[in-house]
Amino acid sequence: MSNAQGHCSCCQKDGMEPFAELDQIIDLYRDKDGNLIQILHIAQELYGHLSLELQQHIAEALNKPLSEISGVVTFYSFFSTKPRGEHTIRVCLGTACYVRGGKKIVDALQKALDVEIGETTADGKFTFEVARCIGACGLAPAMLIDDVVYKQVNINKLDAILSRY
Ligand code: FES
Repeated sequence: MSNAQGHCSCCQKDGMEPFAELDQIIDLYRDKDGNLIQILHIAQELYGHLSLELQQHIAEALNKPLSEISGVVTFYSFFSTKPRGEHTIRVCLGTACYVRGGKKIVDALQKALDVEIGETTADGKFTFEVARCIGACGLAPAMLIDDVVYKQVNINKLDAILSRY
């Protein structure tokens, strides 16, 4: 592919192209406005997370400084620099959910999954995060697992919810 013009010396040294699939995407988006966010999204989909090595590769391929790539990655919460779980749990801690017990949900899940906020379970099943508002305030407290919204959650429902995954 054309963009392997010496952009990634570490890959080429071994005759390997670990980011070859991404390189094709970068070629497609190279001249498009706002391409960095799209490339980062696709890179995260392809490789699960945006490791420093991957960010470096993108920086070289786009001829941008690594600081610019890292700045975007760290600014947006949907980008992750660490491997993510198979499913993402986001408990809402917006005002409505907080006052109706959102914090108790967070505490119970932390205990059940044995993780801190932002971490992934040892078995790689769940990444655990909190959110500010997921648009279900009327039926607070609420949480998301991937793109499924669970409303009026309480700690007694958590086992049943988690067992679906
Ligand atoms: S505050 Fe939780 S859904 Fe809005």
